[in-house]
Amino acid sequence: MAYRIEAFDPGLHDTKDFRCGSDSQDNFLRRTAKRQQRDGYTRLYVATDTAQAGEPRACLGFYAINAHAIGVADVPADAVPRAPRSNLIPGVFLSHLAVDRRHQGKGLGRILLVDAMQQCQRAGQILGVRLMLLDVAGAARDAERARLHSFYASMGFRPLPGRPERLFITLSALPPPQSGGSSIRGADAAGSSR
Ligand SMILES: CC(C)(COP(=O)(O)OP(=O)(O)OC[C@H]1O[C@@H](n2cnc3c(N)ncnc32)[C@H](O)[C@@H]1OP(=O)(O)O)[C@@H](O)C(=O)NCCC(=O)NCCS
Repeated sequence: MAYRIEAFDPGLHDTKDFRCGSDSQDNFLRRTAKRQQRDGYTRLYVATDTAQAGEPRACLGFYAINAHAIGVADVPADAVPRAPRSNLIPGVFLSHLAVDRRHQGKGLGRILLVDAMQQCQRAGQILGVRLMLLDVAGAARDAERARLHSFYASMGFRPLPGRPERLFITLSALPPPQSGGSSIRGADAAGSSR
């Protein structure tokens, strides 16, 4: 299946049947996301099936990102050389990442994470961004949490000191940005065109 990843448009994207297994992620998408995006607190990007004709398009997965700042003392010294006088390190926070249950295990979660990382790179071309951060959340069972940690570790994320659930990566370690608007990717071709 090829996925289209595009900015969330409540008039275009159908979220009512989305279920990922985490109530907090489901409720955020169905109840809160529209308002938070309208108020400028977050930006959502959703994956849809390129083969789906017509509108609305079913949301198969999504992520949400927002601007963030973290105190220099909370970040390992090697990640913030020559910290600014403000002692605040600018970043992008990935607040949500989820895939509908019917589409899990096919690579879409990884595709969405790579897309979010590229959005951070793009943001870093127009304003100061040093880090990308996220909280490992949504998984109820220990085994799932451990799996999530290894997933993010495989993409280069590591925990903040004393905060094992909050992970970060420096912008320089992210994949280079690709130009353009929405992206279309195959599940087995995470590096394809944007
Ligand atoms: C986590 C999630 C987004 C992964 O989506 P996906 O499309 O199934 O993931 P992929 O097929 O691309 O697999 C990528 C990695 O995700 C991790 N993963 C997949 N399903 C997972 C699950 N149920 N629990 C924990 N980690 C999982 C694995 O590490 C996997 O890599 P691996 O197959 O090499 O072990 C999806 O399971 C989900 O929506 N879970 C509920 C919400 C949630 O926990 N969000 C994470 C917030 S930090």
